[in-house]
Parts: sequence; C-alpha cells; structure tokens
Amino acid sequence: MPGATAAATPATATAPGAGGGDAAAIAAGDALFKNNCAQCHAVNEQVVGPALAGITKRRPVSWLLPWIKNSSKVVASGDEYAVAIFNKYNKQQMPSFALSDQEVNSILAWVTSQEGQAGPTAEAKPVVDGKPGDEAAAGGAEAGAGKYVDILLIVLVVVLIVLVVTLVIIGNLMKDVLRGRKDLDGRDVEILEQRFDWGKMYRSPMLRGIVGVVFALVLVYAGVQSVMAVGLTQGYQPTQPIAFSHKLHAGQHQINCAYCHTSVYKSKSANIPSANICMNCHSQIKTESPEIKKIYRAIERKQPIQWVRIHNLPDLAYFNHSQHTQVGGLQCQTCHGPIQNMEVVYQYSALTMGWCINCHREMPINAKDNKYYDNLVKLHDTKNAGAPFTVSSNGGTECSKCHY
Ligand code: HEC
Ligand code: HEC
Ligand code: HEC
Ligand code: HEC
Ligand code: HEC
Ligand code: HEC
Repeated sequence: MPGATAAATPATATAPGAGGGDAAAIAAGDALFKNNCAQCHAVNEQVVGPALAGITKRRPVSWLLPWIKNSSKVVASGDEYAVAIFNKYNKQQMPSFALSDQEVNSILAWVTSQEGQAGPTAEAKPVVDGKPGDEAAAGGAEAGAGKYVDILLIVLVVVLIVLVVTLVIIGNLMKDVLRGRKDLDGRDVEILEQRFDWGKMYRSPMLRGIVGVVFALVLVYAGVQSVMAVGLTQGYQPTQPIAFSHKLHAGQHQINCAYCHTSVYKSKSANIPSANICMNCHSQIKTESPEIKKIYRAIERKQPIQWVRIHNLPDLAYFNHSQHTQVGGLQCQTCHGPIQNMEVVYQYSALTMGWCINCHREMPINAKDNKYYDNLVKLHDTKNAGAPFTVSSNGGTECSKCHY
C-alpha cells in the first residue's frame, strides 16, 4: 500500500461541518491528502486516479466514506458507479485506508477548498528526492516549474526589445540635433549620413553582446529544465503489449520474483523474462485467452515481446541488483513498492541521486555472517563508538562508487 500511513489528527478536533469551511479541518485534510492520496490523485487533473474536483457533488458522503476506506469492497458489492469507474481506470485498485470518518471528511473539505485552482501552482514543488508519500503529482510540478521559467524568459526578452528600441530612438534624436548644426567636419558628416549596413551590423560588438546574452539565457533555460526533470519519471506507468499482471502472478499465485527475474540475485541487472518462461505455465494455462495468444504469436514469429521499459537510470550511474538484494538483503519492495499489488507496474521510487544517497546514509549494512565486513566493522566501531555501520561509513556515498 503506497504511503498509506494515516497521519494523526488532533484528538480535540470535532467533526467538520458539512460545508467544510473549517480551516483546521482543511489543514488536516491537506496533510492527509499529501500523505495518502497525492501519489495517485490531484484535485483538478487526472493522475493515476481521476481528478477529485467536484467529487462531493458527484457522490454523496455516504458513498465516499466506504469507498475511500475500502474501495474494493464497494466494487465487490456491485455498486453501479463503483464498478463503472473501476473498469474505466483499467481495474486498478485504489488501496484501502484506515482513516476515520472525520479524517475522510477533512480530506474532502480540503479537496473542496482547492477546486478550480490551477493544480500546478498549488503543487509547484519539484520532486527532488524520493520520500514516498511526499511527492506531489509529478506532472503538476513539472508544468509549474516550466511555467515560471517561461514567464521569466518572456519578461527578459521584452526588456531586451524595449532597450533596443530605446537606443534606436535616442540615436535618431541625436542625429536630428546634429543635423541642425553647421560646424561639422567631414568625418562627422559621414557618420551622420551613414546608411544601414548589414556587414557593419554583423561586426558590431553591441549586436554580438546581445546575441551572446540571449544565447546564454537559452542555455540557462535548458539547464533549469533538465534539472527540474530529474526524478520526474516517478509514477511512470506505460501500457504494456500484453496485459500481464503482477498482482495475479506475484500476488495471488505467489510466484517468486526470481522465477521470472532470474538474474536479480546474481548480477547487475534483473532481467525481464523471455516468452519461454511464460510458456512453462501457459502452454497449459488459459490457452484460449487472447492475451496468452499474443505470447504464442511472439514465439511463432521468433520475436521477443516488446515490453516497455519502466525503470531506467541514466548511463552515467551504476546500479547493481545483486549488491542490494543478495549482499544487502534488501526486499524488492523497498525500492519498487508493492509490486505484488500492481495490476500494471509503475515506477514507485524517484530513482534520483538523492534517493540513493539518503538510503546509503541511513541504512546500516547487514554485516552479520559476512566475513568480508568483520575487520571493517571493528575499525569503524573503534573510531565511531555507537554509530551504526551504514553504507556510507563503508564509502557508499563516494562519487566513484556510483559513477563510471
Ligand atoms: C495507488 C493509487 C491511489 C491512491 C493512493 C488513492 N487512490 Fe483514489 N482512486 C484511484 C483509482 C485508480 C481510482 C479509479 C477507480 C478505481 O480504479 O478503483 C480512484 C478513485 C477515487 C475516487 C472516485 C473518484 C470519482 O471521480 O468518482 C475517490 C473519491 C478517491 N479515489 C479518493 C481517494 C482518496 C481520498 C485517497 C487518499 C486517502 C485516494 N483516493 C488514494 C487510485 C488511488
Ligand atoms: C510470471 C513472471 C513474473 C513474476 C513472478 C514477477 N515478474 Fe516482474 N515482470 C515480469 C514481466 C513480464 C515484466 C515486464 C512487463 C511489465 O512491466 O509488467 C516485469 C516487470 C517488472 C518490473 C519493471 C521493469 C521495468 O521495465 O523497469 C519490476 C520492477 C518488476 N517486474 C518487479 C517484480 C517483483 C518485485 C516481483 C516479485 C514480487 C516480480 N516482478 C515478479 C514478469 C514477472
Ligand atoms: C508459474 C506459472 C506461470 C507463469 C510462469 C506465467 N503465468 Fe501467466 N498465469 C498463470 C496463472 C495461474 C494465471 C491465472 C489463470 C486463471 O485465472 O485461471 C495466469 C494468467 C495470465 C494472464 C491472464 C489471462 C486471462 O485472459 O485471464 C496473462 C495475460 C498472463 N498470465 C501472462 C503471462 C505472461 C506474459 C507470462 C510470462 C512473462 C506469464 N503469464 C507467466 C501462471 C503463470
Ligand atoms: C536498492 C533498490 C532496489 C532493490 C532492492 C531492487 N531494485 Fe530493481 N531496480 C532498481 C533500480 C535503481 C532499477 C533501474 C536500474 C537501471 O536502470 O539500471 C531497477 C530495475 C529493475 C528491473 C528492470 C530491469 C533492470 O534490471 O534494469 C527489474 C525487472 C527489477 N528492478 C526487479 C527487481 C526485483 C525482482 C527485485 C527484488 C529481488 C529488485 N528489483 C530489487 C532498484 C532496486
Ligand atoms: C533502500 C536503500 C538503498 C537504496 C535506495 C540504494 N541503495 Fe545502494 N546500497 C544499499 C545497501 C544496504 C548497500 C550495502 C550492501 C552491502 O555491501 O552489504 C548498498 C551498496 C551500494 C553500492 C556498493 C557500495 C560499496 O561500498 O561498495 C553501490 C555502488 C550502490 N549501493 C549504488 C546505489 C545506487 C546507484 C542507488 C540508486 C540508484 C542505490 N544504491 C540505492 C542500500 C540502498
Ligand atoms: C549512491 C550512488 C551515488 C553516489 C554516491 C553519487 N551519485 Fe551522482 N548520481 C547517482 C544517480 C543514480 C544519478 C542519476 C539520477 C539523477 O540524475 O538524479 C546521479 C546523477 C549525477 C549527476 C547528473 C545530474 C543530472 O542532473 O543529471 C551528477 C553531475 C552527479 N551525479 C555527480 C555526483 C558527484 C559529484 C558525486 C560525489 C560527491 C556523486 N554524484 C555521488 C548516484 C550517485
């Protein structure tokens, strides 16, 4: 359940009025929404789930309370609206939430208070490090940051144009003043009668300066854009060529991750299974299903299934699965989230440098029964009595460990 930890609300707060105008309830709702819902919902735009603006007009509170607490129960009950929206969103299940009626009401009050406001300005916060539950809608942050840079750029261009126009006007004024004078020598007249000359213009230091400034601005703009884009693949959930469900295979049927991702404990990369692995079961199971027939077709044509890659670090970074799963003993879910509940896989963590380093600073190394670490731990403990032996104590935050 991604980030589904209900934040405590003050025990003294009373149930908010139906209108939801209560500022304390709205503030509590804001925090609850960010911790539990923002991963999948925004008020005024669709994220993973629908935009929530107008929800209290679409549905009565008597429907919203059970839905938010346990949507799959409402779907299972056959409720017409619930089944329709569940199907519309590709049968993606919304997690259950252990929230009180009062907490749900404050979330709804906050949602109502945000209706009609542009999403991006409310959430204009770049996602720079990967605290699950803290991320605002990534798309909103991107649009918000982009908009400010755009506005800044437009203002600068306008200022430049105004400057140029002013200079031309001043120049013409001065020429007019000079023409009125008789005591000019030949050189002055030459300058005065000068026509517009592209060659001279091209050599002019002023023009070069202006072009240089504009060029520098464009570079800064591109730089800011790319920095803002860091981590924005979080939540990426492409449609796959076959409706393969981790929820069904890894969740319901409890097939071990490494049955398919065979190299995840042994090598750098966790491979994606070939069609042959699917055939271990699907030569027998569901042979008539149109989705399974896609596997047969791929094998007949001797073409691999074109799965769309979801997680992808830039080439400059080195990440090794076996170091983390086999040596470090980390669970897949620590980094990939509740894969066993995902109908369609999405990128759960930010995968930014900050995300890697935060964990390395905090995570103690599992040094038990690993002789390699015995001396290192002893050395560490004599120097830093009491401090845990973290990945970074072992040099896990040195640039060269992660960069080629
Ligand atoms: C993991 C993603 C996820 C999280 C987290 C999540 N939802 Fe949803 N929500 C969905 C999806 C997907 C739907 C569409 C229905 C479906 O597929 O079940 C939905 C539907 C809804 C609906 C119905 C919307 C409509 O237009 O009828 C409401 C209301 C709602 N969610 C509220 C919440 C609230 C409140 C929270 C936080 C406490 C929350 N959701 C957390 C994914 C999520
Ligand atoms: C029956 C085979 C099978 C099992 C079992 C399985 N997976 Fe997968 N996994 C796949 C296939 C096929 C894909 C590519 C299609 C997709 O993304 O859904 C995939 C994709 C993924 C991806 C995304 C890869 C990318 O493109 O970045 C992750 C992460 C992942 N699996 C983790 C897990 C974890 C964790 C488990 C165990 C809880 C697991 N898988 C169990 C077959 C399997
Ligand atoms: C260890 C056995 C096993 C493996 C390996 C396996 N599956 Fe499955 N798969 C199942 C079972 C069991 C079901 C559920 C059948 C049912 O609902 O009756 C299923 C169902 C499916 C379905 C849903 C079919 C439908 O129409 O309901 C798809 C699609 C699917 N698998 C794709 C794949 C793909 C793609 C692979 C390879 C990456 C794969 N499976 C590997 C056991 C397996
Ligand atoms: C410490 C965090 C972490 C853990 C633990 C982890 N992964 Fe990953 N996983 C990543 C990162 C980061 C990537 C992207 C790697 C890249 O692009 O080079 C990734 C990519 C993947 C991919 C896509 C193929 C690939 O190798 O690039 C699959 C499949 C996958 N992981 C499965 C798993 C499974 C299964 C487990 C558990 C046995 C697991 N992962 C544990 C961080 C982790
Ligand atoms: C959830 C925690 C966690 C995250 C996230 C994580 N790591 Fe690690 N990492 C570990 C642990 C634990 C170890 C130590 C394993 C061991 O040697 O016992 C480790 C070790 C390493 C090492 C070897 C360090 C050494 O001293 O030899 C490298 C390189 C590394 N990680 C790279 C990455 C990169 C790159 C990312 C981000 C894409 C990442 N890690 C994200 C927990 C994490
Ligand atoms: C634990 C692993 C880890 C360590 C240690 C680490 N990096 Fe990174 N770094 C990454 C990953 C992963 C990325 C790619 C993800 C991203 O762009 O945020 C990255 C990206 C970068 C980038 C490109 C940023 C961008 O916007 O694309 C630079 C520059 C960089 N690192 C420099 C450094 C320097 C300098 C150090 C040492 C002080 C360092 N890194 C230490 C994992 C690490």
